[in-house]
Amino acid sequence: MENRSLVTIADYSKEKILYMLQMAAEFEKNPNRNLLRSKVVATLFFEPSTRTRLSFETAANRLKARVIGFSDPKATSSSKGESLKDTIMMVSNYADVIVMRHYLEGAAQYASEIAPVPIVNAGDGANQHPSQTMLDLYSIYKTQGTLENLNIFLVGDLKYGRTVHSLIQAMRHFNPTFHFVAPAELKMPEEYKLYCKEYQIKYEEHSEFTAETIQDADILYMTRVQRERFTDLMEYERVKNVFILRNSMLAATRPNLKILHPLPRVNEISYDVDESPKAYYYQQAHNGLFARQAILCDVLGITLDEIKKEQ
Ligand code: CP
Repeated sequence: MENRSLVTIADYSKEKILYMLQMAAEFEKNPNRNLLRSKVVATLFFEPSTRTRLSFETAANRLKARVIGFSDPKATSSSKGESLKDTIMMVSNYADVIVMRHYLEGAAQYASEIAPVPIVNAGDGANQHPSQTMLDLYSIYKTQGTLENLNIFLVGDLKYGRTVHSLIQAMRHFNPTFHFVAPAELKMPEEYKLYCKEYQIKYEEHSEFTAETIQDADILYMTRVQRERFTDLMEYERVKNVFILRNSMLAATRPNLKILHPLPRVNEISYDVDESPKAYYYQQAHNGLFARQAILCDVLGITLDEIKKEQ
């Protein structure tokens, strides 16, 4: 049987991405449908989450699926030493699809190789976060009217931030110019710069974050410094407040600029930015509901035509 898992956004072609955006747009018109009425969706979160878990569960509930799962692995038998393999095999007995977040890079890939049901990667360590990427793409498309030829500034923790890694891979189809804005300790890893070179993706690196740095941005994608990925907390303390976006920095930015952030925010976006019409991060999180409805349907083999028929 075809494995319909979503483990990495790199597996999606340009056509597939555009198709998934059409699905998300259908769900935005009407998120309440009967498409998953007989399905069970499992959400297994081995790491904390607010948006990803709750939006996947809302997505499933609004499509009339039933939801099982856990948000704290301490309350499961993995705390007694049960392996990831056994956990995945057990939950596959109960659910039609497994949405999982795990602290180990590659955990979702591994699960997809052993599970008889589709796996959706809801974040694996510092590696990938493909459902976040789909909602980011949907947000960029909605606000810019296109995904093509955009100036995208990625700011903050580009070393450990999995959302920026996934976004680079997805945007390779759309001729972006990336600007990587990070302190030396949190620079974009070499493997992603090599990826850019392989796919002829233009990028510049910046170590300063000022109003001048961002004046040509179409998308300003802020990220949190990922405290949980640091082995040396002294290093975290040194870099945690280095880049903060303030409303005063937006005066000379492009009129079409939108500020995205996967959230949670700590203090990298000052609260005075929230009132700016350029701030889009709360709407971005809302878009996650529609993007995740599209993903659940797609991995369960439900097509765009079927969605359009089932109004
Ligand atoms: N953006 C994101 O993954 O948020 P959560 O960690 O709250 O799921």
